[in-house]
Amino acid sequence: MKVAQLQQEILRLKREQDVCILAHSYQAREIVEIADFTGDSYQLSVKAKSAPQSKVIMCGVRFMAETVKLLSPQKTVWLSHPDAGCPMAEQMDRELISQVKAQYPDYTVVAYINTTAALKTICDVCVTSSSAVKIVQQIENDKILFIPDCNLGAYVAAQLPQKQIKLLQGGCPVHARVTVQDVAQAKAAHPEALVLVHPECTPAVAALADYVGSTSGIMQLARGSGAPAFIIGTELSIAEHLAYECPEKRFYPLSKGLLCQNMKLTTLPDVYNLLLGRGGEEITLDADTMTAARRCIDRMIELGG
Ligand code: 13P
Ligand code: SF4
Repeated sequence: MKVAQLQQEILRLKREQDVCILAHSYQAREIVEIADFTGDSYQLSVKAKSAPQSKVIMCGVRFMAETVKLLSPQKTVWLSHPDAGCPMAEQMDRELISQVKAQYPDYTVVAYINTTAALKTICDVCVTSSSAVKIVQQIENDKILFIPDCNLGAYVAAQLPQKQIKLLQGGCPVHARVTVQDVAQAKAAHPEALVLVHPECTPAVAALADYVGSTSGIMQLARGSGAPAFIIGTELSIAEHLAYECPEKRFYPLSKGLLCQNMKLTTLPDVYNLLLGRGGEEITLDADTMTAARRCIDRMIELGG
């Protein structure tokens, strides 16, 4: 089947079956086109809660599908591709963080949403890249244990010098690949362009940027800015989506290494087959995990809205 035909079939089947398709903005254009909603991690979690449909397909990675399930336990939630995990979310488990918590008993544990539901059960509050500074600022305790991304944590710490932020050595292998040399080369090649980077990049890279922000922050800035060109320091799809949306502007990826293989596992045939009852993975979480992990997400929405 051709792409457009497959997309039409997916749209028909999802309407017939009362299915909401959510896509993270790192998904390919053809997936974004069949989604009811596309956004960053925070926007997707809020949308998941309010979506009227009884079934949800999350085109993204596992922790995002788990977050949808936590927020909508009565809904049937599928992850579009069973192997689509986020390597950062798998870096730290309950055992490790329980040990660290024992060393820092008076610290509030702030978990980036890129963590497993199991790990969220022992954390105090979640954040996303777009809400991290705002949420950490509102926490009464000045002692914060921020997991797992030390780059995002360092970015938050730089914005909030009044907080004592303890970091561990975790992070996104995709964004961490970007080097200061990549920035220097991109700037030399496109001196007229603004450099926009995700806070999962290293502090050395972030320091050279004109703007540091979440996926949606980067997109909003580029759409609204009068600048003619932008160097995009996050997953390759963002430069592609922006080029499609704003044909009068130019978008250059900061590095060709900014490809998240996991985000790109989902294909149109995966979504089509899922709607035909084949493939994907239904997300199930036990009752204890649901209750404990949801507290963390609810608190995020409470503080981040
Ligand atoms: P956002 O919170 O900006 O959507 O980022 C999610 C993510 O996985 C970044 O790598
Ligand atoms: Fe995880 Fe990084 Fe991929 Fe985002 S880009 S899903 S943090 S591996």
